[in-house]
Amino acid sequence: MSTLLIRNGRIITATDDYVADVFVEGDKIKLIGANLQMQSDRAIDATGQYVIPGGVDCHTHMDLPVGAVFSSDDFETGTIAAAHGGTTTIIDFATQSRTGSMHAALDEWLAKAEGKAVIDYGMHMIIANLPDDLLGEMDALVREGVTSFKMFTAYPERLQLDDGTIFKAMQRAGANGGLIMMHAENGSVIDYLAQKFIAEGKTTPNYHPLSRPHQAEADATQRVILLAELAGVPVYIVHVSSHRAMEAIRAARDRGSLRAVYGETCPQYLWLASEDYADGKFDGAKYVCSPPIRERANQEPLWRALAADDLQTVATDHCPFCMTTGFKGLPKQKELGRDNFRNIPNGVPGVENRMHLIYQGGVIQRGWTLNRFVQVTSTAAAKLFGVFPRKGTIAIGSDADLVLWDPNRQHTIRAATHFMRVDYNPYEGVTVDGSPSRVIARGRVIFENDQFGGKAGQGEYLKRGTYASP
Ligand code: URP
Ligand code: ZN
Ligand code: ZN
Repeated sequence: MSTLLIRNGRIITATDDYVADVFVEGDKIKLIGANLQMQSDRAIDATGQYVIPGGVDCHTHMDLPVGAVFSSDDFETGTIAAAHGGTTTIIDFATQSRTGSMHAALDEWLAKAEGKAVIDYGMHMIIANLPDDLLGEMDALVREGVTSFKMFTAYPERLQLDDGTIFKAMQRAGANGGLIMMHAENGSVIDYLAQKFIAEGKTTPNYHPLSRPHQAEADATQRVILLAELAGVPVYIVHVSSHRAMEAIRAARDRGSLRAVYGETCPQYLWLASEDYADGKFDGAKYVCSPPIRERANQEPLWRALAADDLQTVATDHCPFCMTTGFKGLPKQKELGRDNFRNIPNGVPGVENRMHLIYQGGVIQRGWTLNRFVQVTSTAAAKLFGVFPRKGTIAIGSDADLVLWDPNRQHTIRAATHFMRVDYNPYEGVTVDGSPSRVIARGRVIFENDQFGGKAGQGEYLKRGTYASP
């Protein structure tokens, strides 16, 4: 078994902060202590660097079919990019078809990842249809390690479920231990507004956010929280973009003794603003995602909510599509909506930039502790999605998923140098005062000074346990 000794780093977990050595044997952390005198195949001096648990991005979409196209990163390019930015675990989404079974979807998504992922990965299940004879599949999936289920109150044609079906799934999750994840936007209102804009000739990307107002997100968020309360189950609201939706989560957490409502936001809602693309030019297609990017004044309440634990996680909802037709041989993607914003494939890239952006925005600009940075980028997601303490911390017996974060290593985000397979970066030009010098995934150094040294297929599929409150 190969061994690795990381000497003299400042070890940061969600709760600890101390200087020590970490000894790794095979893929696990074997010992942590001061001045360890161990023989090792390799020793790395981490003096002056933070040793943090690898990031856990609990919301990605690699190789996702959207209409006629697929998100432009597959499990190989997307996980290499994730690792470059300090993320060593992703949880992606298998999507049930309206007429198919959930197991068929899981098989399809596992085949997409097999032999490609360079870091470990789990799968959530998107429920697109739940007749009574498929309810047993939810129980089986929880037993098999798919312990979270996403449902939609939006996208009427493809994914939206009625309240009765959502409630039925919630009750079943209450019985089998699964965690319900909700995409909360009022799909019917959005559909009406979007159709109206198109009929009026308002076809440019700036009408995308106008068709998905704050109220549509806050309304659906409030509604699914109440449904979850009625069903007596926890609920995790994905990609919270609106401060109004966040306020609904905060109010529910404040009134609930179990505090069993959880919220996730994403770098795009913390760093990007709709004012930047409200000029009607097609360049705005870069930022078309759902829920949409809001006005700048919406950012600070979300940052504050993360600091105050009104929101628990930052995931990326990484779902890239290229602006340029033919980039790396990929077909037309965002261009599909040049004449109609409704045809722009929804999603933005970010899996490579999440840790950088939360470090810069949280620790450097807003004075967060390093512990909070680790909690929202790694530990909370590991607990909620049943991979803690294997992932999300630095402890004896945990997977050796470690990032050596150098606070003196500046990094400027640029599409020209990023590893994501997409021809733009929404954070182009942002400079971050700190960056990973090395990224270690289950004991293997897979990134060293921005050079990838891993192999496709090294990542393992994670059968996850049921959720724990973070
Ligand atoms: O625009 C987005 N977010 N695309 C990905 C699908 C989803 O709803 O998470
Ligand atoms: Zn969603
Ligand atoms: Zn998503």
